Amino acid sequence: MQNRVQKALDYVRSRSAGIPEAAVVLGSGLGAFADALEDRTVIPYGDIPGWPASTAPGHAGRLVFGKIAQKYVAVMQGRVHYYEGYSMEDVVFPVRVFASLGVKTYVATNAVGAVDHALSPGDVVLLYDHINWMGANPLRGPDTPEWNPRFPDMTRAYDRKLIEAAERAAEKEGILVRRGVYMAFSGPSFETPAEIRMARLLGATVVGMSTVPEVITANAMGMRVCGISCVANHGAGMTENTLTGKEVLEEMAKASGRLIRLLTRFFGEME
Ligand code: HPA
Repeated sequence: MQNRVQKALDYVRSRSAGIPEAAVVLGSGLGAFADALEDRTVIPYGDIPGWPASTAPGHAGRLVFGKIAQKYVAVMQGRVHYYEGYSMEDVVFPVRVFASLGVKTYVATNAVGAVDHALSPGDVVLLYDHINWMGANPLRGPDTPEWNPRFPDMTRAYDRKLIEAAERAAEKEGILVRRGVYMAFSGPSFETPAEIRMARLLGATVVGMSTVPEVITANAMGMRVCGISCVANHGAGMTENTLTGKEVLEEMAKASGRLIRLLTRFFGEME
């Protein structure tokens, strides 16, 4: 694994104009943010040795370096998900590469289902904690002390200063945001109504099928993390509707302009 990360790292380093201030992963339907970068370098995932290729709909599969709000960032247009059949090692591979490159900040965006009754499609939730319900942990396996401690702390998995920067950005853009807890399911089936009720009882605000493995690994490797979720739908059973992946992408398409404004302003506010 170290060897595989090293090869990708050597390639990524050779293509980047310095160490990015942040690595950003764009969730379903948010790929257009990468088009807003200036002085872009676009690298298809397939060009990077060892990099897992994304197959999920709404994920382009490219790494884009460029500037946003005067900051040099690395943007992943698309991630691989555990539900696609990738190993946890694959899912967190990009995080391993960016942390090894010396990137200090990891920003995860994603589409989620609402669990909290107060949320509606299009709402933005800033993550302040998570529940890992995937039944797997990306750090399971032989100890890799050169990468991360055996038992990494997760008390503040989502950096408080970054949440505050996102809140300032939201206020300046006139976008309503709230804080919430992300509960990760492995998918790919949507949750049942009983699972959504369970999630609510356990303290979740939103549910999704990504992000948590990457957040665990990023924290373990000493990065600070920001999680920005966009509500695509009410959780199963909360309305009369049934759920489709198409509806998730349609809602994200509607919200993407607002999210891109928020992200852009966030990088202006980020210190
Ligand atoms: N559940 C899990 N993941 C999701 C959902 C959902 O309802 N909507 C978007 N991603």
